[in-house]
Amino acid sequence: MQCTSTIADMITIDAARLSRSIQDFGRIGTLPNGGVCRLALTDAEKAGRDELVRRMQSLGLTVRIDSIGNIFGTRPGRDADAGTVMIGSHIDTVSTGGLYDGTLGVLAGLEVIAALDDARLETHRTITVAAFTNEEGARFQPDMLGSLVFVGGMALQDALNTTAGDGMQLGTELKRIGYAGSEEGPRDIAAYFELHIEQGPILEAENVQIGVVSGVQGISWHEITVHGRSAHAGTTPIALRSDAGLAACLIVQRAYEMSRAIGPDQLMTTGTMRLKPDLVNVVAEEAVFTVDLRNPSGDALKQADINLLHIAEAVAAETGTRVTCRTLARFDPVIFDKRLVDSVEKTAQSLGYSTRHLHSGAGHDAQMIARVAPAAMIFVPSAGGISHNIREFTSPDDLARGTTVLAQLVSGQAELMKE
Ligand code: GLV
Ligand code: MN
Ligand code: MN
Repeated sequence: MQCTSTIADMITIDAARLSRSIQDFGRIGTLPNGGVCRLALTDAEKAGRDELVRRMQSLGLTVRIDSIGNIFGTRPGRDADAGTVMIGSHIDTVSTGGLYDGTLGVLAGLEVIAALDDARLETHRTITVAAFTNEEGARFQPDMLGSLVFVGGMALQDALNTTAGDGMQLGTELKRIGYAGSEEGPRDIAAYFELHIEQGPILEAENVQIGVVSGVQGISWHEITVHGRSAHAGTTPIALRSDAGLAACLIVQRAYEMSRAIGPDQLMTTGTMRLKPDLVNVVAEEAVFTVDLRNPSGDALKQADINLLHIAEAVAAETGTRVTCRTLARFDPVIFDKRLVDSVEKTAQSLGYSTRHLHSGAGHDAQMIARVAPAAMIFVPSAGGISHNIREFTSPDDLARGTTVLAQLVSGQAELMKE
């Protein structure tokens, strides 16, 4: 019998259990000064995967691992052919990560399952909690790699061949940690939801409880290598140098200026730079650095990409160096499914929570799943807007509010039934 009472009356999130779950999980890969380091496919991340699988199994979920290491835990529904409602995110982190980025979305999914079990509720559709491989892109590029492969946006073999900065190949690491699976993830996704911390300052600054995410901005990652000539720092006149360090600095500075000229929506970050031979008294013969460009406008982002390459070439000519550029990731902006986005807003408001529409600045697995299924995201506030940082924090009340919205949405889409 399809239930008639409101879903909100029937399913209750256990806020204390959710907080405990996140805190306990945060001990896996913990850093001495707080926060976590669970870079994709490292021993620490394997430990996180093992714990996640254990938790899924103890909730009675059927666990499947696919060939790129994505983990799917499915709760049965009354009709196995009616499609699944998927709750997903990731458990890998950057090397200076907090407890919430990604992990919240996965563990909130398990809390939704536990709350359904507590209330002895069945659903018409199955519900799947998914943890996608290498969302962060901090070890292997591109980011969102597991969900990208899952939706057919990258060939499996290309993904397995990806090499990290530490020289390790993704496929080798996946096998080493025992997560090179052979099963298929669910293909019939009726709806996909991802609860995530905002990772920015807007919700907190405006005192809003739930962010209704309309889409994700475009992302473009470049790796630029400048080839110069090493020389003695004390004896080589400036005019006679081919200084890779100088060229790198000029490219970065001009790229920041170029981004500012496009407008406030255009973001640019150089987050890594390595010099060779990396010595105080030697002119660098090589500089390798990254440029992360983002913009909600696909056209503006394309223009920024072109401008960056022109800047790099001009600086090389000026400094007597040579540059090569490699694209590490390139994703167009994504707009989420309007019907699901509206349902996020209505559900949050019906629970009495304040809402605001937001565009996501960070990349998310939801943007890949949106290629094959209706997808939407829920944001909760980040204290001080801080993320990718060990000080990342979201209050237990905010975690519970976001998870309550998630539970209502999932229950609605999976069609709740009283046993
Ligand atoms: C993923 O965390 C990103 O860089 O947006
Ligand atoms: Mn994330
Ligand atoms: Mn992240």
